[in-house]
Amino acid sequence: MKKETEGMYYTHGLTVPETPKPGDSPKPWKQTNVVGKRIPRVDAYERVSGTAVYPSDLVLPRMLYGAILRCPHPHATVKGVDIRKAEKMPGVHVVISGSTAGNNPGWKYSAFTRIEFATRIFESHCRYEGEPVAAVAAETPYQAWDAIRAIQVDYEVLPFVADEEKALATGAPRIHDKGNQMGETQRYSRGDVQKGLEEADVVVEMRFNTACELHTPMELHGCVADWDGDNLTIWESTQGVYPVQNGVAQVLGLPLSKVRVIGRYMGGGFGSKLRAGKYTAIAALLARATARPVKLILSREETYLATGNRPPAHMKLKAGVKKDGTLTALDFSCLASGGAYPAGGTALVDWVVRDLYLCPNVRSEMTDVYINAGPARPMRAPGHPQGAWALEQMMDALAEKIGMDPVDLRLKNVPTFSQAREGSPPYTSTGLRDCLVEGAKAFGWKEAREKIEKEERKSPVQRGVGMASGLWIAGGGGPPSTILVKLFSDGSVNLNMGASDIGTGTRTVMAMVVSEELGIRPEMIQIENADTGTTQYATASGGSKTVPTEAPAVRAAAVEAKRQLFEMAASELKTDPSGLALTGGEIFLKEDPTKKIKITEIPGLKKAGVIVGIGYRGPNAQNRVVNPFAAQFCEVEVNKRTGEVKILRFLAAQDSGRVMNRLTYDSQVIGGITMGIGLAMTEARILDRNNTGKLVNRNWHDYKLPTALDVPAEMTSLPIEPEDNEANTTGSKGLGEPVIIPTAAVVANAVRHATGVRVLDTPMSPAMLCKLFSEKRKEG
Ligand code: MOS
Repeated sequence: MKKETEGMYYTHGLTVPETPKPGDSPKPWKQTNVVGKRIPRVDAYERVSGTAVYPSDLVLPRMLYGAILRCPHPHATVKGVDIRKAEKMPGVHVVISGSTAGNNPGWKYSAFTRIEFATRIFESHCRYEGEPVAAVAAETPYQAWDAIRAIQVDYEVLPFVADEEKALATGAPRIHDKGNQMGETQRYSRGDVQKGLEEADVVVEMRFNTACELHTPMELHGCVADWDGDNLTIWESTQGVYPVQNGVAQVLGLPLSKVRVIGRYMGGGFGSKLRAGKYTAIAALLARATARPVKLILSREETYLATGNRPPAHMKLKAGVKKDGTLTALDFSCLASGGAYPAGGTALVDWVVRDLYLCPNVRSEMTDVYINAGPARPMRAPGHPQGAWALEQMMDALAEKIGMDPVDLRLKNVPTFSQAREGSPPYTSTGLRDCLVEGAKAFGWKEAREKIEKEERKSPVQRGVGMASGLWIAGGGGPPSTILVKLFSDGSVNLNMGASDIGTGTRTVMAMVVSEELGIRPEMIQIENADTGTTQYATASGGSKTVPTEAPAVRAAAVEAKRQLFEMAASELKTDPSGLALTGGEIFLKEDPTKKIKITEIPGLKKAGVIVGIGYRGPNAQNRVVNPFAAQFCEVEVNKRTGEVKILRFLAAQDSGRVMNRLTYDSQVIGGITMGIGLAMTEARILDRNNTGKLVNRNWHDYKLPTALDVPAEMTSLPIEPEDNEANTTGSKGLGEPVIIPTAAVVANAVRHATGVRVLDTPMSPAMLCKLFSEKRKEG
């Protein structure tokens, strides 16, 4: 039988990793052996075979099932909750509500917003449809839901407002005591916009709207909660076990040490799983009241009502440009709503306007209002796709007016520093120019445009090409991030990190980093992650920062383990550690490779049993900004009779720094484009604004997600890899969010090219397009 440890190591053919020195932080990689390759996920088998246990799969002995009663009205006060009948239902162990003692702790809305708002878990003033009113734990989920239906609530139904513009009108129903505007209007300005507009040869003004998108991770939100005495353990589908630990400890008044959160596997999160939900605390309350483990996984309808959304944005943009393509002014305003609570309605919507292109005169005004709807949450590149929908269509319109190619107009205004930040610090790398140039070349931009424009446009089916670019505000950073790499005496390795793998392949990338330094095959590394009880501290996996934040710490830990290993080997080989190198599980003298020793034969290691390398993430370079960039291109076919848009091909040129794993990189690109197409074409929360205020489309039939049939078969991922030795010791800048930023605008620009119609609002349904085509025909 083959020994498990055989074939554990790579024998590097290319380069030998550098020899670490004590206390040194690793130097940037030059050539890599493992990093950058296409490597399947280390946990691919567990994931596809169904053996991986996600929180929604978990079954514990004596486990009960929880369910939440939610307010069916968009605005109401709870006058009374009668749980007597529900309590007597078969299988029911407990019913809790705002009036059952000890079960209604405080809850703060403070995430991703500049305003904090204190409320309670079961709030008597229900400000949106879906506000929790009571909860049940029962033997089966069916019994729990039957009991929910038996709870009698006396509501006083209040007038509601479900429209951002109407929320500010006099006489609008008040959602909060201080009125429906969330704090002050946020203002930014640089230069002199009025002067800039006067200097322009062409000024264009347009209004844009993006619809509210609902968070739709494959795995529903929820957890299993279990108490052992006063120790609480929670298995949660989360992007960050530490923020959940923190949130639950705060709500329940527990020390952090008494709350253990485990999130080893989780089925997707795009910002709505960055922290604890009310459901997390409710599960813990139910478990405490019954002294049994309680599983509380929301239904899809509940996640659509209550767990978050990309807030709708109503935007106005006025821009000035000279005939040579120099931007002279950008004047932007936005009205948005994070729903009934402070939740970041306008957050980051103006960032691309402020920082994507060189422009001396920029102004932005953003007003955030409350409406009676579920609270927003950060959603894949919060704010950015909304702002890009406006800015990138504006760039297209300006190019058209001055008779310039849209790519050339953008090339004319590429910055190398961040204008919107204090002191205008330079970017560690600005791959935007290469994204534009290389992307256009690979796509065949000029040729495709010319070919389409030469054709006679008689057919009802027209082709068009479009493009847009983007930047993402973040690029990873630290501290904190701490990583442990344990190298055992047989040479095998255990990696310990706090970060969640939210489906992006984090575990695989980190294993590849260890592999790069220690030569061990990624699949031979055991990874322990996302468990506050056993793994190191990490912030949530979000902001596209997991790789650029964690990977440098992983690398530092692996290098530190290697340094200790070399010291042990050096004393055996009677040499200095600085002369050693490692490959194929052997340590040898660089000057005389015949002098070598196998890792498994180092007496120092055998005696110690294990080497522990601890790695930390240092801070980013001072006065430098790490940001990813993108340029995307697509070709569409639009049927002017039916309003159908077929997206034929897409190309994404992404500057996210170094590609860590080409396979998971491409997956992020395909996923981001798909979600961006959803924003452009189909996704929209529909509230019955005038009659009931209720959410109309609360399932996968009525809320239209793009499927495989809605995205092109041809999606090209074109990594642009500027050498970035300043970003961090891995040169990576983050990819998950940057991809989605330009996508919707790319489609809109292509539709414009194909039809001459500019679509200002998402989603561009066939009905809306037909209306636009008919208006255009009437204009002649
Ligand atoms: Mo992301 S919106 O930080 O999950």
